[in-house]
Amino acid sequence: MNPEELMELKREKDAVIFAHYYVDKEVQAIADYVGDSFFLAKKATTVKEKNIIMAGVYFMGETMKILNPDKHVYLPDMKADCPMAHMITVEEIQEMRQKYDDLAVVCYVNSTAEIKAHSDYCCTSANVKKVLGAVKEKNIFFVPDGNLGANIKHLFPEKNIICHSGHCPVHHAVTSEDVRRLREEYPNAPVFAHPECQPEVIESVDVQGSTSGIIEAVGKTDAKECIILTEEGILWELENRFPEKKFYVHEIVCDGMKQVYLKDIVSILKGQKEEIFVPEDVSVRAKRALDNMLNACEN
Ligand code: 13P
Ligand code: SF4
Repeated sequence: MNPEELMELKREKDAVIFAHYYVDKEVQAIADYVGDSFFLAKKATTVKEKNIIMAGVYFMGETMKILNPDKHVYLPDMKADCPMAHMITVEEIQEMRQKYDDLAVVCYVNSTAEIKAHSDYCCTSANVKKVLGAVKEKNIFFVPDGNLGANIKHLFPEKNIICHSGHCPVHHAVTSEDVRRLREEYPNAPVFAHPECQPEVIESVDVQGSTSGIIEAVGKTDAKECIILTEEGILWELENRFPEKKFYVHEIVCDGMKQVYLKDIVSILKGQKEEIFVPEDVSVRAKRALDNMLNACEN
């Protein structure tokens, strides 16, 4: 199917396609909206179409569905998943709530609907600072991304931020030795890293940022070469926006994001895929955490 036929089918089926920066470029190229987790969540609140295709991993489809309970939400591959989303359990949250009267649970958007339903706020790497700044409670259980939590908690010395030990396997695998080696190889290139990387890595780079934060920071640097420490799918956006720059992307490959294929999007448009389902009681409670995130970021 050529791109024009796909667009026609999409219009006919009243469908909109969202894609994360980490999916393959051929998928990003046909999407209506491409962005980071925060951008996608914000855009999700403005959808007019009846059918939403979320080209990303499972928790992203769930988030779309929670924010659009009356629409049909599809994922190109229902098995495309984020391992970090399953690293925290409801029981761990309940235990922490027993321990502290004055506790807020802040969950990274890379979490299941069930975990969001047991949390007070959601956050993404792009808005974690704003969300934590909006929390009134003294004690904060930050789940599941321990690296993101550890990379931000020094900005809130007045809070007791307890970080869970979950992590993104592919970002967590980057080491400060990798940074040293890359700097040696490309001495003129500043290093940009996603805060899902370990604190010792973040301490050794020039800029930390969410995927959109990295793209923005690259736009501001005069450097002609940049080292990028996040999932390699980001390269498509970087090269499109900054054709004059050279990028060296460390091999960070997310298996889940790489399971998103154009052919499966075509199958959805032809009516051949099951849709995402989130039980209503879970969805309503999870939406509160997402709404609290969106409200914290309004200004
Ligand atoms: P952002 O989209 O918030 O940069 O997060 C990256 C990620 O790991 C998405 O799964
Ligand atoms: Fe999850 Fe990491 Fe993949 Fe993001 S890059 S979806 S955090 S495994």
